[in-house]
Amino acid sequence: MSAPSSISLRHVVKSFGDGGSKLTVLKDISLEAKDGEIMMLVGPSGCGKTTLISIMAGTLKADEGEIEVFGSALHKMSKGAVTRFRAQNIGFIFQQFHLIPTLNIVQNASVPLLIQGKSTRYAEAKAREALDKVGLGDRLHHRPTELSGGQQQRVAIARALVHEPRLIICDEPTAALDAKNGQLVMELFENVARVPGRCVVIVTHDNRIFPHADRIASMDDGRILEIHEVDKHKPPVIATH
Ligand SMILES: Nc1ncnc2c1ncn2[C@@H]1O[C@H](COP(=O)(O)OP(=O)(O)O)[C@@H](O)[C@H]1O
Ligand SMILES: [Mg+2]
Repeated sequence: MSAPSSISLRHVVKSFGDGGSKLTVLKDISLEAKDGEIMMLVGPSGCGKTTLISIMAGTLKADEGEIEVFGSALHKMSKGAVTRFRAQNIGFIFQQFHLIPTLNIVQNASVPLLIQGKSTRYAEAKAREALDKVGLGDRLHHRPTELSGGQQQRVAIARALVHEPRLIICDEPTAALDAKNGQLVMELFENVARVPGRCVVIVTHDNRIFPHADRIASMDDGRILEIHEVDKHKPPVIATH
């Protein structure tokens, strides 16, 4: 029997604007990601990748279609219920990091736990652990602006992992990282994904990380073109731009 689906999208459609300026960005997307899977999404700039993962994460609402995450139907839930669901279950790493500049990195990484109502002491202890795992244990009192782009990205990753979410979604997680740190981050994602009931979805242009995927979905112009099953020893060659 195949693994159950962590994410199931059926006939998802999304447009921006209306009337003459209406732009249909997702054109009938159906896609599944399974328990224990690392799925990557590739495709040219503007093809709809960020829009698609925002819909998976519930930060953006689809116009049409069904979105189930761990069996919960996000398209049927109220905005408040989706927000609560996201706080419990989803870690999202934004392309632009979205760190809070006035807070140090421990405070930044503790945000998901504070949203869940955990105490500051507990949240910050967990945040320090998560930052240590991404190699920032010696930078705990720094603010994001005092760090390099790659370090800021690792803070964003620690923040996404701190509440041990079942689903991690990331937009270009390794773009600003050198080979060594990119490898470290992929190992973290692998550890997260290989626990039953978990799933990782990664948008990437970085073909160095393709061997870490179980499947790679290639997108263009608002559609899924193809799903590649990955042979770790012979990763697929896919045009990424
Ligand atoms: N909030 C928005 N309002 C209007 N257009 C948008 C919005 N977000 C994205 N778009 C447009 O949707 C298309 C797909 O964007 P996006 O999902 O960010 O693509 P990708 O992540 O693949 O580069 C682009 O043409 C983009 O300009
Ligand atoms: Mg994008």
